[in-house]
This record gives sequence, structure tokens and C-alpha cells, in this order.
Amino acid sequence: MSRYVLPLSVLGTAVGGAVLLKDFVAGGACPSKATIPGKTVIVTGANTGIGKQTALELAKRGGNIILACRDMEKCEAAAKEIRGETLNHRVNARHLDLASLKSIREFAAKVTEEEEHVHILINNAAVMRCPHWTTEDGFEMQLGVNYLGHFLLTNLLLDKLKASAPSRIINVSSLAHVAGHIDFEDLNWEKRKYDTKAAYCQSKLAVVISTKELSRRLQGTGVTVNALHPGVARTELGRHTGMHSSAFSSFTLGNLRLTADANHKPSQPTSASFLKLRNPEDHKCGVTHQLHL
Ligand SMILES: NC(=O)c1ccc[n+]([C@@H]2O[C@H](COP(=O)([O-])OP(=O)(O)OC[C@H]3O[C@@H](n4cnc5c(N)ncnc54)[C@H](OP(=O)(O)O)[C@@H]3O)[C@@H](O)[C@H]2O)c1
Repeated sequence: MSRYVLPLSVLGTAVGGAVLLKDFVAGGACPSKATIPGKTVIVTGANTGIGKQTALELAKRGGNIILACRDMEKCEAAAKEIRGETLNHRVNARHLDLASLKSIREFAAKVTEEEEHVHILINNAAVMRCPHWTTEDGFEMQLGVNYLGHFLLTNLLLDKLKASAPSRIINVSSLAHVAGHIDFEDLNWEKRKYDTKAAYCQSKLAVVISTKELSRRLQGTGVTVNALHPGVARTELGRHTGMHSSAFSSFTLGNLRLTADANHKPSQPTSASFLKLRNPEDHKCGVTHQLHL
């Protein structure tokens, strides 16, 4: 037997395993070809990453899309790009900084006043493993943006969502919630050494728990709420870890390959949240409280 056979078979197995793993963590493909003409959709954090792809995919399917972002320059650029690519002119940018309760209230008030309906609210924006920053109102940043900001936004839009029923709320969480622990004595990490990873996990666990409770409260209203893990995609999420621009990240974190759209460009991450929210199973069982992985 050639001395190269063993090392080559080990290498082949390792590469094959890595490809299968990458494929697995990226998630599955959505078979739905459903369209959503006339439905009003809000996507938070839609200027980049999964939120942008979600907005793009839903714009292709005919929705009125509101991109809710903190940086209006990036937001307008994304809205323009989506309008150009989809030829859907009902794609608009609006200011929303989830690290500011004032901004959230202003955004919700404007939407309530100007939009006849809100059919789909996608709470997608997040910050991951940032330094020990606080929001404008003094909350630890990851809890403040990922959970508290979306919690307030959802509650402020709830009457509109109920009046638009059937409607749905999608909370983009993360598998990281399984490692989460909520310290009710020290939610803002003032008494302990700050742990960026644990703070992210805490925020995502809070999203999952509150989704479950909200689903219970929404029974019978025609509004469903679900949380999901979107799979793993190469986005800007790792910007505070330095990982997202590394060669390791480029190799291991693939673009999600989840779209049902034959025109999808594989160079872009596709929208896992879109796919989960259009999962036909959701409709079949009238899901209101599940975590989709
Ligand atoms: N990528 C993954 O593999 C993965 C895995 C599990 C879960 N997720 C979840 O998927 C969702 C989308 O993440 P992503 O990967 O697409 O990350 P991303 O590329 O970093 O996008 C995050 C978005 O959130 C926005 N954002 C951050 N802070 C905000 C604030 N204070 N107010 C309003 N918007 C704010 C960002 O805006 P700026 O550009 O202005 O900062 C950006 O638009 C997140 O909930 C994330 O936890 C992602």
C-alpha cells in the first residue's frame, strides 16, 4: 500500500466532514413559492446580513417592506439596492435605533400613524459580543438591543398587528440560547466581570422565553409569534470578535443556501428567517410558540 493512501484518506474524510458540517449548520431550503402582495413587513437591522436578505426575498414576493435601521445612510442604500433588484418600489427605509427607547417609541408612533397595516414584524437586529457598552437608557447593550428593544417595539405595535390579523411576529434568536443563563439579580452585568459571550447567550435566551410567553397571551388573536435560529451565515455579526473577516470564518461560515428562488445569487447570504417564516409546517399546525432550528 502506498504511504500516501492513509494521509490522503484522512484528509479526504476531514474535508468531506467539514463540507457536510458546513452544509448542516447552514440550515435547509424553503420550498415555498408563496407571494405576499400587499402585506406590510417590518424587518429590523435590514441594512446588512440576514435582515437584508430577508427584506430582499420578501420584496421579491410583493410585500411592502420597511427596513428599520439605525444608520440611515446604510438603510437608504440597502432599500435602493433592493428596489433596483426586485423592481418593487414599496421598499422604504426608516430610522430605528434599538439602543434607544426614545427612538423605538418614535418609530412605532410613526408606523402606527402612517401604515394602515403591519402584517409581519421581523425582530432580526442584534449585536454580538460587543464590549461592555450600555444603551442610551443604561441597559447592557446586548440585552438592551437584542431583547429589551425588540420587546418594547413589539408591544408598541401589538394593536396594529392585531388589527391586521392574520399577522405574525418573528423573533430571530440563536442556538446560543441553550448556553444562556438569566441572572435576574444582575441583568446589566454591574456586579460581575462582563462576559461578552454569556451576555449574548443571556439576551437570546430572553428572546426565546418571552416569545413563548407572548404566544400564550396571543392565543385567539390571529397573531402568531415564533422564535428561530437562522442557521450559520457569514455576516457582520462577528464584527466585535474580529472573526468575521478572518480566513477561518470565510471558510467555515458559508453563505446560506436557503432560497427557493432560482434567481438567487450564491454570493449572498440568504434569509433563513424568511425561510422559516414561510415554512409550510407553520401554517399546517398554526404554530404560535415554537423555536425553529
Ligand atoms: N449570522 C449567523 O450565523 C447567525 C447565527 C445565529 C443567529 N443569528 C442572528 O441573526 C440575526 C441577524 O444577524 P446577522 O448575522 O445578519 O448580523 P449582522 O450582519 O451583524 O446584522 C445585524 C443587524 O443589526 C443591526 N443593529 C445592531 N444594533 C442595532 C441597533 N442598536 N438598532 C438597530 N439595528 C441594530 C445592524 O445595524 P448596523 O449595520 O448599523 O450595525 C445590522 O443591520 C441576529 O439576531 C443574530 O443574532 C445570526
